[in-house]
Amino acid sequence: AHLLSLLRAAPKAELHIHIEGSLEPELIFELARRNGIVLPYANVEALRAAYAFTDLQSFLDVYYAGASVLITEADFDAMAWAYFERAARDNVVHCEIFFDPQTHTARGIDMGVVIRGLDRAAKRAEAELGLSVRLILCFLRHLSEDDALATLEAALPYRDKFIGVGLDSSERGHPPEKFERVFARAREQGLHLVAHAGEEGPPAYIWSALDTLRVERIDHGVRCVEDPELVARLARERVPLTVCPLSNVKLCVFDDLGKHNLPALLAAGLRVTINSDDPAYFGGYLNDNFVQLFESLPQLTAHDAYTMLRNSFEGSFVDDEDKALWV
Ligand code: HPA
Ligand code: ZN
Repeated sequence: AHLLSLLRAAPKAELHIHIEGSLEPELIFELARRNGIVLPYANVEALRAAYAFTDLQSFLDVYYAGASVLITEADFDAMAWAYFERAARDNVVHCEIFFDPQTHTARGIDMGVVIRGLDRAAKRAEAELGLSVRLILCFLRHLSEDDALATLEAALPYRDKFIGVGLDSSERGHPPEKFERVFARAREQGLHLVAHAGEEGPPAYIWSALDTLRVERIDHGVRCVEDPELVARLARERVPLTVCPLSNVKLCVFDDLGKHNLPALLAAGLRVTINSDDPAYFGGYLNDNFVQLFESLPQLTAHDAYTMLRNSFEGSFVDDEDKALWV
């Protein structure tokens, strides 16, 4: 019980949160009303009832429907601000938030509307909550690389407002190497690189994220344990893995938190961090992830907690001088 209260109070960094996945049903319906959008769900309860996922794709279908209510700069601002306020209550002091511009530009929303709205909330969070915020633009891997290249070009006028690019959406059948050129282009721009790999996809996708895309962190990565040579490499190179425990259970990657392989990842010396992924959809924000994980896996120690909290700062993309203030 003492450890759980320490976990809640500890300062932490969140490195894997899709801002569109922080959109709570109440805000979805408020924005739908404001923007005159008719949702395929009658009310908040009916929407929440649809949050019974069997795999990644069944979640993504609902997640993209929810994001369809975002139209104006103020909508993106409101969504992000709600997350920042909530994260600050969990003692998050630094966050690197993913956003999916193609989900919006495909509906005719301007790239500038998306980025300026998120940036406005981020600046306010830095000023009013003392929260340090960075944005990471994610490409949707179920779409083509040409679409991703056009998305990166459309975002470059706002280059100063995001620090990196990532890769998300349907993993199976969409290996990292499909995006080799766009990641090379992002690297030329001095952007940081991350990719979802090894959530539902095989260890081969983690290898190609590292070798073909040259990413600095792996999002999820839990299936690395199927390949001992890969585990050894991840440990040797100290590659951060942004693990999302409640997400993994909701999307049926593991049957329950007690069966999560996080203890094995730690035992292998991997640089594991804990994150919430899509907190409005998966039943909890960052402290819920920490507390429920530690309740379900009593073998986890205070030392493990400290290691993962430290990893969250060390694995972040802040400058080394800023890191030195935290760890
Ligand atoms: N995996 C892939 N794509 C996503 C996720 C995820 O966990 N959340 C939002 N987009
Ligand atoms: Zn994710």
